[in-house]
This record gives sequence, structure tokens and C-alpha cells, in this order.
Amino acid sequence: MTNDQRAVLQATGITKTFGSHAALKNVDIAFQAGEVHALLGENGAGKSTLIKILTGAYSLDQGTIRLDGEEVSFATPLQAQALGIGTVYQEVNLLPNMTVMDNLYIGRQPRRFGLVDRKRMEREARAVLSGYGLDIDVRADLSTFSVAVQQIVAIARAVALSGKVLILDEPTASLDAAEVEKLFDIVRRLKARGLAIVFITHFLDQVFALSDRVTVLRNGQLIGTRAISDINRTEVVKMMLGKDLALHHGEILAEESEVGETLVSLRDYGLKGRVEPINLDIHRGEVIGVAGLLGSGRTEMARLLFGIDTADSGRIAVDGRDATIRSPRDAVALGFGFCPEDRKLDGIFGDLSVRENIVMAMQARLGWFRALTRDEQMEIAGNYIEALDIRTASAELPVKLLSGGNQQKVILARWLATDPRFLILDEPTRGIDVGAHAEIVRVISRLREDGLALVVISSELDEVVSYSSRVVVMRDRAIAAELHGADINVARIVETIASHHAEAEQ
Ligand SMILES: Nc1ncnc2c1ncn2[C@@H]1O[C@H](COP(=O)(O)OP(=O)(O)OP(=O)(O)O)[C@@H](O)[C@H]1O
Ligand SMILES: [Mg+2]
Repeated sequence: MTNDQRAVLQATGITKTFGSHAALKNVDIAFQAGEVHALLGENGAGKSTLIKILTGAYSLDQGTIRLDGEEVSFATPLQAQALGIGTVYQEVNLLPNMTVMDNLYIGRQPRRFGLVDRKRMEREARAVLSGYGLDIDVRADLSTFSVAVQQIVAIARAVALSGKVLILDEPTASLDAAEVEKLFDIVRRLKARGLAIVFITHFLDQVFALSDRVTVLRNGQLIGTRAISDINRTEVVKMMLGKDLALHHGEILAEESEVGETLVSLRDYGLKGRVEPINLDIHRGEVIGVAGLLGSGRTEMARLLFGIDTADSGRIAVDGRDATIRSPRDAVALGFGFCPEDRKLDGIFGDLSVRENIVMAMQARLGWFRALTRDEQMEIAGNYIEALDIRTASAELPVKLLSGGNQQKVILARWLATDPRFLILDEPTRGIDVGAHAEIVRVISRLREDGLALVVISSELDEVVSYSSRVVVMRDRAIAAELHGADINVARIVETIASHHAEAEQ
């Protein structure tokens, strides 16, 4: 690649190998001042690895990096930071037990007479965050806030540090629509100030709303860089997949299949302040899609079903018998499984191997006195790695080294290994790429055909439509409506989410 005169940050011939796995092969990329540059690719394509190399978090095997035309070599992210490259890594790197304002100012606190000026820090921190629409007590520990708030703090911190380049690796995965809009406003302002902004996301809408150029990676290789005005969504997806894909799988309705007998029956089952009493029968061979805005009570309902929170009203029956679910252990004993929304917090044990992560729930169910032998574990893990097409160099790799979508499949494998009767999936396709979306959607349909009962919470309405036998719409922490048959379409779901109480209860 010739030297790009307009580039602020330019990388040429980047190659990186982990063991025998080539994560990046001879990749060229250049980021210009005043542009938003989307970096796209399927899970495992090498996006995060490229960012880590550009910012000194990983070393490179081959290649050169130039900042303002000068060759640089960062030994640590701090060195990159000092030269004006601010980064929000995919795994947010904050200190949960420190206050919000300390997190915002780590290493650069304002000082007065040599002492940290906490009053000023507090004032400034509050002003900075209110620019993101956050009015919170900046003296409280970061861990007391939601993932979304923590994400915004990480972004605010990186923005404050980025004089030249701002790199955001999937910054919007845990943000709601309003928070995304605020972030976009800020990015546009920074762009106008001449920063180069690198934006990694799996949301195509966001790519087209924000970016000027896109670069696509596939299997560690550069597929190409294009101006957004020269390319459409189908072309971008094709570049990512290297093949055609039925983009509108949402139009294929779930077959009107016979549902089996009732497996789980809820009567006025609720928890004050979190979920209004629920009345719902869940059948074998049925997928109940749960739609609703973030904060509508979807996740709260899942937590209640799985015993993470305990109901304070109503009854639950499983297979016709009254049941008591006070903990996930009770739920597992009844044959329930749960893939949570935030796999980083609740699901994945990053330092354990893929094998250990997969057999974990099954082992717990068998009881520790019946320990699985290593051979048994290998066999189980091997089967699921194959069945779900989990891309990993080996079953012994720490799971944190897998790409996001593959981690998601590991959690799914963990629960499938317990041979569950009832599976609750909360946003099973969040933060994963288009190809993995289609695959998870297929797995869900297959499980339904196998006679499982499933509750799937998702914001991807076209997907909800494609696999649900019934759709439950939540609003204000209650079930607002149930949609059946021909009413299961995106337009109707959106209408129901948007309608007022009175309108929905026709
Ligand atoms: N430290 C590491 N050791 C071994 N393999 C690694 C390491 N970091 C990344 N990999 C591998 O390199 C490949 C690229 O991973 P990377 O995290 O860059 O993908 P990505 O494009 O960011 O994917 P996602 O969209 O899922 O975040 C993957 O196969 C991953 O397993
Ligand atoms: Mg990544």
C-alpha cells in the first residue's frame, strides 16, 4: 500500500499469528482525519486484534504503523494514548470498585497545590457525563451502575484522551436507542473537529447512519475499503460473508406446528417492583418470542423464571406439578436452562477452557460426586463444538480468547449439554455477526422441533418473527399483549410495543 497522505493513522502489512492460527494476514488500513471509519467482519475476523495491535496492546509479527506519517511502535496502550489515540476496547477496562469520577480521570486527575482537586474533578466529571445525558452521582462506585452506564463512562474517558484518533470496539452493544443517538452526536462533533474515528459494530443500521468509509475483514484478511456512498447493505454483507445470504430470513414464518402439552404454567407469578404478575402457559415444542423495549421487564421476567430472583406472588407448575424455584439450582433441577443477556458478566468464565465452560452446568446437575472424566468431558465438548460450529483452535483454549459470537455459542452448548426441557435465551444474537445470527436462529428452530420449550427474548424483531410460535409483548414490566398466527409480523409487534395500555387490551 502506498503512503496515504491524508491518513492520520496508517497500518501496512500487518500480520499476527497466535500459535498456529493466523489472526491477521498482511492487512493494510488507513484512517483519515475527519472521517468515521467502520471496521466490519464476522466474529473472529480479526477486528479487535487489529485494534489491539494498532494501540500497543498486542505486538505485531510483521508490518508498520504510522501516525501522521511517522513510523511508531507502541509498547503499551499508554504510549498510544499519550500520542492522542483513545480506545474503548471490546472488553471494557475500568475499575468497578472505584468511583465514576476516578474512572474518568485515572492517571490525569486535576491537581491543586500538588493535591488532587476532588471538588473540581467532581464538577468536571458531572459536566462531561451530562454531555452524554447521564446525570448520576459521580462519587458512587462504578459497579453500582448498569453496563450501559459503565460503557458510557469508558467512552467519555476515551474521548477525553483522544486528540487524534478515537477507536470504539463495539461501543453500542449494551446501549439503548437513546444512548446510541447521544453517542452518535458526540462522534459527529468529534469528526467535525477533525478526529479520525474508528467504529466497530455488528449493527448495519449504525454503520450506514454514521460512517464515511467501511473496511471489511474476513478470516484475518483485508477484503476491501469502500466509501459508504458507493456500497449498499447487501454488498457489505456479501463482503463479510464471501457469499450470498438470505438477508430477509424474517419473512419465513415459523411453521404452524402442533405444540405439545403444557410444560410450564405461570399463574399470577410476579415480583413486586420488578415484574407484574404473569399468566402464561409454555408448551413443549413451542418458542415464545418476547419483544419489548429495553427496560420493559423482559430480562426481569427471565430472571424470575430461572430463580435468580424469587417470585413473591402466584404459582408456577412444571409438568402439572406445583414447583418452587428459589434459586437457579432449583431451576436446573427442573430441567431449565438460561443463557443470560450479558455473557461477560453472567455467563462466561474467561480463564477456563472451552471444554470446562461447556461441561460446567452438566457437571453441576450431575452433582460433584459423579465427576465427569476427562474423556467424557472431551467427548461432550467435541460434540457441541462440532454441532454448533464453534470456531476455536482447540477445546483447551481459554474461552476469553474466542470471538464474541463463539463465546455465545459456548454458553448455548453449556445448557444444551444438560439436556434441558425448557430453555430461556436472553438476546442470543446480541453482539454477534450476521452469519452467526442465522446459525443461532436455525439452532432455535431445531430445538423447538426436538420438543423443547423455549422463551427467547430479543430486540431483533425479524428474527423473533422467524422462530416464534407465539409472541409476548412486554411493556412497563407486564405482558401487554400476546400475538398469534398472522399477527406475528414486525409491523404488528412494533405497533403493539408503541401502543398505549388501553389500545393493546382490545
Ligand atoms: N490472545 C489470543 N490468543 C489466541 N487466539 C486469539 C487471541 N486473540 C484473538 N485470538 C483469535 O484471533 C481471531 C480473531 O479474533 P478477534 O477477537 O480479533 O475477532 P473479532 O473480529 O474482534 O470478532 P468479534 O466480532 O467476535 O469480536 C479469533 O480466531 C480469536 O480466537
Ligand atoms: Mg472483537
